[in-house]
Amino acid sequence: MVKPKIAPSMLSSDFANLASEAERMLHCGADWLHMDIMDGHFVPNLTIGAPVIESLRKHTSAYLDCHLMVSNPLDYIEPFGKAGASGFTFHVEASKDNWQELIQKIKSKGMRPGVALKPKTPIEEVYPLVENETPAEMVLVMTVEPGFGGQKFMPETMDKVRALRQKYPSLDIEVDGGLGPSTIDIAASAGANCIVAGSSVFGASEPAQVISLMRNSVEEAQKIN
Ligand code: DX5
Ligand code: ZN
Repeated sequence: MVKPKIAPSMLSSDFANLASEAERMLHCGADWLHMDIMDGHFVPNLTIGAPVIESLRKHTSAYLDCHLMVSNPLDYIEPFGKAGASGFTFHVEASKDNWQELIQKIKSKGMRPGVALKPKTPIEEVYPLVENETPAEMVLVMTVEPGFGGQKFMPETMDKVRALRQKYPSLDIEVDGGLGPSTIDIAASAGANCIVAGSSVFGASEPAQVISLMRNSVEEAQKIN
């Protein structure tokens, strides 16, 4: 059985107090910290890069789940490895010709390779990466168009999660975008086990309750399926 991993998206945190926000989330029961890297080109927003990961790493030993919404992920591997990233998830739309090289390099820098796909990208596009001799070890199914926090969950993306879970029972499947108390059950019963949540966690008066509710939902869905 794949373990539930609840990953607050630090995009919704107070970036001016990143270290204390990270600590607060870990106290609230977070398993991973989800870091959204946007280059202003692959998506129309610009966030943080390796220097910020490096700074945060000095304050925490937590798993830093880095989601790279960038046009040229290859350029980021070395700096992110040095900065202390834990997971390095690149987009399949940005790696059509070089995903094998990317996966190899990510592993050689001591990070865990993952592949993400946008809502309109067919799930079949990630199968070769998961079935490769050196595979992508997590698939991130975007449940909103990447670029911004606080968007509405797209239930039509759940067909992709179901297809993946049926094919790969022990794969880490992450969902990202619009997850919270009202959408978690749909994603959990489709088979997602890694849950990214930004606005629903940071906007809550009791983030620990939201985190624990989402973990319970994944655990309950796993008992039924
Ligand atoms: C969107 C990012 C998400 C985002 C999620 O492009 O990849 O990680 O921060 O935020 P919420 O949970 O608010 O949709
Ligand atoms: Zn993300």
